[in-house]
Order: sequence, then C-alpha cells, then structure tokens
Amino acid sequence: MMQVLKGFSKLSKSEKIELLRRAIPLNDLQISLLKSFNDRINDSETIIENLSENYISNYVLPFSIAPNFRINDRWYFVPMVTEESSVVAAAAYAAKFWCGAGGFKTEIIGTKKNGQIYFSWNGNIEDLQSLFPLLKKKLMLCVKHLTSGMEKRGGGISGIELNKENKRERDYYIVDVEFETADSMGANLINSCLEVMATELTSFIKDNFGEKESEAEILMAILSNLTPDCLVESVVECNISELTQISGNLSPEQFAARFSKAVRIAHENISRAVTHNKGIFNGIDAVLLATGNDFRAVEACGHAYAARNGKYTALTDIEISDNRFRYKLRIPLALGTVGGSTSVHPMARLALQIMQNPSSGDLMQIVASVGLASNFAAIRSLITDGIQKGHMRLHLTNILANYKVTEAEKKSVEEFFKDKAYSHNAICDYLSGIRETK
Ligand code: MEV
Repeated sequence: MMQVLKGFSKLSKSEKIELLRRAIPLNDLQISLLKSFNDRINDSETIIENLSENYISNYVLPFSIAPNFRINDRWYFVPMVTEESSVVAAAAYAAKFWCGAGGFKTEIIGTKKNGQIYFSWNGNIEDLQSLFPLLKKKLMLCVKHLTSGMEKRGGGISGIELNKENKRERDYYIVDVEFETADSMGANLINSCLEVMATELTSFIKDNFGEKESEAEILMAILSNLTPDCLVESVVECNISELTQISGNLSPEQFAARFSKAVRIAHENISRAVTHNKGIFNGIDAVLLATGNDFRAVEACGHAYAARNGKYTALTDIEISDNRFRYKLRIPLALGTVGGSTSVHPMARLALQIMQNPSSGDLMQIVASVGLASNFAAIRSLITDGIQKGHMRLHLTNILANYKVTEAEKKSVEEFFKDKAYSHNAICDYLSGIRETK
C-alpha cells in the first residue's frame, strides 16, 4: 500500500521531479519533457512558480489572436488561449463577418458584486434589524482602510442588508454586502472586507445584547460568484440579405429561419441549451485564460444565470423582424484588469496591452462579444455544413503532427479523406498503408 507522502511542498523543484522519477517511475524522456517546458520561460519562471503550490514545470497552451473584433466602433486584436483547435478560427470567422456589418454593439448593464456573512444567533432578529442602521455604519467604518483605494477608483461598498432565509436550514442569518470593485475583480478585497466585518458583527452583538442571547457564531464570510448585477450585453444586427456572405448553400432567408429555430430549440431543450452555452464559453474562457481571469467563477455564474428563472436555458436571444437579423448575448461577467494574476502573469499583462489596456468594463464588453461570436460561428456551422467539416480539418492537422508526416504524405491524406468521415485510427491505417507500399 502506498504511504501518505509528507513534506512534498517543502522540496525544491528538482527534488520533486526526482521523487516523481522514482515513485511513478518516470523515464529519461519524460523527465526531459518536464524540464524542457521549464527551461523555455527563463526570467518569468519565479513569477509562474509562485502562482501555484508544488510547481514542477509548465503546461503550454497556444496563445492566439482573433483579429477584426469591432466593438462599439473600436477595433481589437483579441488574445485567446485554448486547447480546442477550432475555437479561435470560429471566433475570428464571426468577427470578420460582423465587422463588415456594423460590428458588435455592447452595453454594460451593471457592475455590482456581492458577498455574504453567514451567522447563527439565538437573539431576536427584529431587535437586531432595529439596530441595523447603526451596525451598518460600523460595518462600513471598520473596513475603511481596505475600501479607500477602491473608493478612489470610483468603487466602494454600495449596500449592506441583514436577511433571513426561510429555507430548510433555518438557524442562520445573512449579512449581504454589495460592492463596486472598479477595475479589479476584487475577490481578495471582498473576502478581506467580509472577514473584518464578521469580527465587527460579533462585537456589535456582544455589546448590544444582554445575558440571555448567545454570541453570534460566524459560520463563513465569502464573496458570491453569483453576480447577476455585473451584467453586460453584446448585440449584432444586419439586414437578412447580408447573411448571403455566410449562408453557404442556403438562401439568407433560409439561413435566418434555421438559425432562429436552432436558438429557439436551445431555449426549450436543456440538452441543447448546455451545448449552446458551452459554445459561448469556448470564446469567453479563452479570453479569460489569456488575461489571467477566473474562468471557473465566470462559468459557474453564467450557468446559474442561465437557470435564473428555474429552468436552464440558452444565454442568447434572436429576433428576426422587418428583414433584420438581431442576435444578442446578455451575460454576467465579473472580471478584473488589475490585481490577481491579471497583473502578475507576464502573458496576461501582454494580452491586456494587446487590447489597449481595457478597463474591467471594456473587457466585459470584449469578452461578451467573443462569446457571442463563438456561438454565432458554431450555430452557423451546425445549420449549414455541420460542425465536423471545420472541426475535423483542424483535428486532422493535429493528428498528422503526431506522425511526423512529410508534405507528400500530408497531401495524400488530405486528398484521400477530403470527402470521407474519418477517425484517428482510419488516418493511422491509411498512413501505414502508404508507408508500406513505398
Ligand atoms: C464545440 O466545442 C462547441 C459546439 O458544440 C457548440 C454548439 O453546439 O453550439 C459546436
């Protein structure tokens, strides 16, 4: 039986690798692979190393650019990091089409974030409610040293409420705190504020209530990743006749009708809704990764928002009227352009520089537009040629890269499979065939 390994985090990087070499065991080739991805980043290594515990090497993903994103008449080259070969091509395809049709029009609906203090207490909540204006002042004051920077940048605490939920778990109260965090995502700041406020809350209850009430018991103080009021909208719109450029064998009217039906199905059918939204996050996550933003938080929130009315549904909406095609994505995006790994990771910083150093609001608008573009391109493929044509062309390149093919072999494979469905095995068999007959 394997023994619990203690002290792994205390080992140096080479000691960790050596330990793995023996324990797994790893061969020389695997060790040099680990080392080669280490050596490539030279000066930035200490920065990367400090991003995560137990660092031993780097996992490299392509850093790509989707050009032609015209958003409120500003043009962007958008950096994207993703392992899925068709994602950047799809976003770039849609961006190019829409830049000729007016581009993306975006609007920030709100930028509020929030956090909660959950506590138990045996006192009378109405009594605490009546003292709440005073408590609120104290809660604001006790975090002044933390919020002053945020206030200078136009943010701060914008609301505090005391709430009780009448759910199955009854014995708890909630202090809901609402924040404007300006250009930072603000996770660390919000959590720090909430923890300081929790201590203040305990002292306040102790000082203001008598012997018969217990002390407040703080269970947890944490930001919420559900940020429905940190919301942005991106819209594209054109005359239906303009869709000719991308409608393939369909007339633009047929294209618009099939597109609209596909979106309506995603509104009704949860199997489709999840995949439809996944296509939106293909683009969103790629920009979030490139800019060092927390894509898990954004995904969790996006899916909860998609189910806000009690049923999970598509995040985009389609409107076809008066010969106009109008497609919209409205999505909560809690993003940052300062603080966290956005400021630390050199490639994240560069990604922001490539986008002309956007504010968090600008980034929300860019990210929403890339999400809409990715989804638009996916639906276009689905209702015209099918998704595999484009997907498999790029996938084929990836498969061939594994076999170190010559130019002549590549041409032969592409020619042979151009009108056939294929799998990894089928390509492998075909390659063996042509290699044997040489
Ligand atoms: C693949 O990564 C994403 C799609 O499945 C999205 C969709 O079906 O809308 C193509």
